[in-house]
Amino acid sequence: MVSFAQRVERMRESGTLGMANKADDLIEEGKDIISFSMGEPDFTTPQHIIDAAKRALDEGFTHYTASNGIKCLREAIAKKCREENGIPATCNEVMVTIAKHAISIAILSSVDIGEEVIIPNPCWTSYHALINIAKGRPVSVEVNRDNDFRMKPEDIMEKLSLKSRVIILNSPSNPTGGVATKQDLKGIAEIAMDHNLTVISDEIYEKVIYEGKHHSIAAIDGMFDRTYTINGFSKAYAMTGWRVGWVTASKELLRPLERIQQHSITCVTSFVQKAALEALVGPMEPIHEFVRIFKKRRDLIVKELNRIEGFHINKPKGAFYAFPAYDYDIASLPFAMKLLDHGIALTPGSAFGRFGEHHLRLSYAASMEKIKEGICRLKKAVEELDLPLRKESENNK
Ligand SMILES: Cc1ncc(COP(=O)(O)O)c(C=O)c1O
Repeated sequence: MVSFAQRVERMRESGTLGMANKADDLIEEGKDIISFSMGEPDFTTPQHIIDAAKRALDEGFTHYTASNGIKCLREAIAKKCREENGIPATCNEVMVTIAKHAISIAILSSVDIGEEVIIPNPCWTSYHALINIAKGRPVSVEVNRDNDFRMKPEDIMEKLSLKSRVIILNSPSNPTGGVATKQDLKGIAEIAMDHNLTVISDEIYEKVIYEGKHHSIAAIDGMFDRTYTINGFSKAYAMTGWRVGWVTASKELLRPLERIQQHSITCVTSFVQKAALEALVGPMEPIHEFVRIFKKRRDLIVKELNRIEGFHINKPKGAFYAFPAYDYDIASLPFAMKLLDHGIALTPGSAFGRFGEHHLRLSYAASMEKIKEGICRLKKAVEELDLPLRKESENNK
């Protein structure tokens, strides 16, 4: 019998991908399913970006590039980080990579066996898995509707121990849509500096923000030297399939990541890097239009979800997910499975950590018509299922 290393035996399938795959299988079998499980924009990549990739291919730009990425792209990323985010990065403090890979290798480079990584809970499903692969220990800080799904400095303080090593931030957040304020980040920065912690700031949804402003913790005095800022093209530019993003950090912090990249993926696909450059320097109007469309959908889905008996949601401030709490006495996984039978695919809140239980995640990367029809099905399903209410419902406030 084949045996595997412990680090993979404990690993579970991604809850979000698992549900999306199930929905896809049913759709392929001819079932009528409306899917809210997608973690990606439903838009096509803007044409000028596609054209840049085609041009690069026609020009024979098909070889390995420098492992940390082509210089013109690193320069454009550094400029963007300085001008839009206040992050004092030069082009040698940027590595072109894949956002998910950057998070993985930033954790691998920072965390030794048994060291603790503070994460919001609920949070993006891969943080737990990647920390476990590094043999670290995830330590959850609860975020919920009462604290606006923001990780508060005082809650982080309570979770610190001698083994604390890293804090992971994700603003705007998947799955909650929570957005950190400047004040939150100042408090978290103080903790990181006082306790010598590294911060991994996952800013992949930076551009998908409706209220408030995006702030980068690495812009705070003293934080650039201890922060990996991770970002990418997937969500903002509808480029999930291109697999390109970046990490910025001081040269010292970046060095181990560069080495891992040299020995693992080598570099990001050459012509994709040319397309990424075009995304940064080309017209931004398509991206603003995506956000305008997402905002309309958000307003619709929030209004309709709040009309369903026993469902509660505040308006998420960023990303493209609705994360309603519900009052019914059923765990989110069996609830999601029952809803699949009623023609709606969504992700159970428990996939995002234990504080995500009794929530559902609906991605509104779907047309207004699909949202209307899907929520109509959800409402009908809830009525037909006639589920009992939880006795002491935390959500029933
Ligand atoms: C919070 C968060 N971080 C990182 C990623 C990974 O981004 P990419 O697909 O560009 O690697 C995702 C993708 O869903 C995400 O939701």
